Amino acid sequence: MSAAESRQVCERCGATYDERETATACPSCGGLFELAHKFADAHRDLLRRTFAARRAAMRGTDSSGVWRYRELVLPSATDAEIVSHPEGNTPLFARPRVSAWAGVERLLIKHEGHNPTGSFKDRGMTVAMTQARRTGAAAVACASTGNTSASLAAYAAQAGIPALVFVPAGKVAAAKIAQTLAYGARTLMVRGNFDQCLSLAREASQSLGVQLLNSVNPFRLEGQKTIVLELLDQLDWNAPDWIALPAGNLGNTSAFGKSLREARALGLIDRVPRLAAIQARGAAPFAASFREQFARHITVEPETVATAIRIGAPASWDRAVRAIRETNGVVTDVSDAEILEAKAVIDAAGVGCEPASAASIAGVASLRRAGVIDAGESVVAVLTGHLLKDSESVVRYHQETEPAPPLANRPIEIEPRLAEVERVLRTTTRA
Ligand code: F0G
Repeated sequence: MSAAESRQVCERCGATYDERETATACPSCGGLFELAHKFADAHRDLLRRTFAARRAAMRGTDSSGVWRYRELVLPSATDAEIVSHPEGNTPLFARPRVSAWAGVERLLIKHEGHNPTGSFKDRGMTVAMTQARRTGAAAVACASTGNTSASLAAYAAQAGIPALVFVPAGKVAAAKIAQTLAYGARTLMVRGNFDQCLSLAREASQSLGVQLLNSVNPFRLEGQKTIVLELLDQLDWNAPDWIALPAGNLGNTSAFGKSLREARALGLIDRVPRLAAIQARGAAPFAASFREQFARHITVEPETVATAIRIGAPASWDRAVRAIRETNGVVTDVSDAEILEAKAVIDAAGVGCEPASAASIAGVASLRRAGVIDAGESVVAVLTGHLLKDSESVVRYHQETEPAPPLANRPIEIEPRLAEVERVLRTTTRA
């Protein structure tokens, strides 16, 4: 298939820019860019066959769950230019215990925690880092609640580009900081929240010539679109009724909307699933705005146990509104207690995820109870990050005593004697 260059289009004023433009905001109006691909000879059947053929690749670029869909991601990138781990190829599976808890029988889980650095961020980062290297970036930067920084650090190390990250001091899970440091990114602990980190990163990128790789960068979204493409592919292009995902800075919500729009336009799917974007109640400006039909752009002072989505001023607001509107989607919020209970259910099913990820399934349960999701509808819930991303929250949950959470599994300290093991076993074995 042809490898024509794509264009960057300002979402606000419609001005168009070269694919190689490195600013992440429109110089004339400040709007965000989105990529417009040519899809010249992209016939539905040819695309499906091409994607399927690449699935056989055991290594190399085609073995990436992002670059397998390259015609819809960044058609002009050549194998030599691509910075890939590889990433993607995440599983889609059912877990009856999780379905039963959520009250939705046809619930499937798409686990993005199976990516190389343990979160979905790798899908966007492979594309943004490829583009950064193609355009000769001297350095790359991001603000992060921890997962983007871990991913950026890993891909920057692979690309050989210096990396700078801005994270809110004291509000990032230790494992994410560990990854970021280990991969060698210069790590700035900012005394402020994520939103302040992002403002600072934006300023730094404008005045210091560092390329910004947050999800305001349109190349990130092109990679993240493949979460949806891959799950549709895994379903033989039979769209589910719903796709549920956690929502923070709204990059993923926007990417999902674009992916569904393009997949529908290309005929890859014949109907569009409804998006359910789920926020944590203490960081839920988008859910509040949804309740007012998006009449106002809302910001809040964020606080939640799900630190990955502890965001009060989401950057991809307008494009996420479009995604919700176009998919007849919904936005809702769930409490920290609901998130932690959903997480304990997902963990105890042998799956596991970090707190922010569990918001998707807590949201499905809540929307089911409210009758928004029907019992017979099919739902794919995306888990965005791995269990080990936030082990502090796991330990806290299971050791909490006042009161003990509903699904706590307290460790038991014993003397090194068989009788004590026997005693424990008696209360543990199945009846
Ligand atoms: N889930 C996890 C595990 C995340 O790390 C994030 C965002 C989200 C969900 C929300 O996605 O921002 O596209 O709406 N993490 C960013 C970060 C902010 O810096 O790692 P979103």
